[in-house]
Amino acid sequence: MIREMRAAIFDLDGVIVDTAKYHYLAWKRLANAHGFDFTEVDNERLKGVSRTQSLEILLEIGGLACDQAAKLQMAAQKNEWYVDHIRHMDTSEILPGATEYLQWLRARGIKTALGSASQNAPLILERLGISALFDVIVDGNKVTKAKPDPEVFLRAAEELDIPPASCIVFEDAEAGVEAACRAGMGAVGIGNVSNLKKADMVIPGLFELVVVSAYS
Ligand code: BG6
Ligand code: MG
Repeated sequence: MIREMRAAIFDLDGVIVDTAKYHYLAWKRLANAHGFDFTEVDNERLKGVSRTQSLEILLEIGGLACDQAAKLQMAAQKNEWYVDHIRHMDTSEILPGATEYLQWLRARGIKTALGSASQNAPLILERLGISALFDVIVDGNKVTKAKPDPEVFLRAAEELDIPPASCIVFEDAEAGVEAACRAGMGAVGIGNVSNLKKADMVIPGLFELVVVSAYS
C-alpha cells in the first residue's frame, strides 16, 4: 500500500537514542542485588517492553516470586538507577541521522511526533535538546496500554489531527511494529528484518533516510 506521509511518529529508545545499554545496567544491578545474573542476551527480551512487563520477565529469569508491594519497590529502584545514567546524557548520544531526518521532515511540512512507552522520555529529550523537533509528544506518562496496543500511536495521530492511514511509525521493537500495524499506520522497522517482519520496510537506522532525502 502506498501512503502519503503527512505525519511521522518516532519511537524513542532504539530509534532516536540507544538507551538499551542503560536499561541493561540498571536491570542487571537489580538482578545481582537479588542474587542472580542478567545477560545482554536476556536484555534483548526487554526492548520495547514496558517497565512492569520487563520486571516480570526479569523475575522469571531469576526464578523469583514476589508480591505486588515488592514489585513496585523493585521497579522504582531500577528506575532510580536508570535515571542516574540518563541524566548524564548529552547530544552526542543522538543516533546518527535522527536530528537531520526530523529537520528534513519538518522543512517539508510533515508533522512529527514522539510515540514512546517510556515515562522518562521528557528527561531524555531534554538532555538531548531535541524536544522542539516534535509537534506532539506522547510518552508512557500519557498512555495506559503498552505496545503492541496501538494506544500510544493513535493518541499521537489524534493530537496531530492527522488520520492514522497518513501516519508512518519508525520503530525498532517487534511490539512497536505490531502496534503501528494495529493502528492502521505504515511501519518502518529500524534494525534487523528477522524480528521486524511485519514492517513495510526495514532500515539499519535513520541515517539511511538522510542519504535518500539528500537526493529529493
Ligand atoms: C521502551 C523501552 O521504550 O520504554 C523499554 O524500549 C522500557 O526497554 C520502556 O522498559 C519503559 O521505559 P521507562 O523509561 O518508563 O522505564
Ligand atoms: Mg524502541
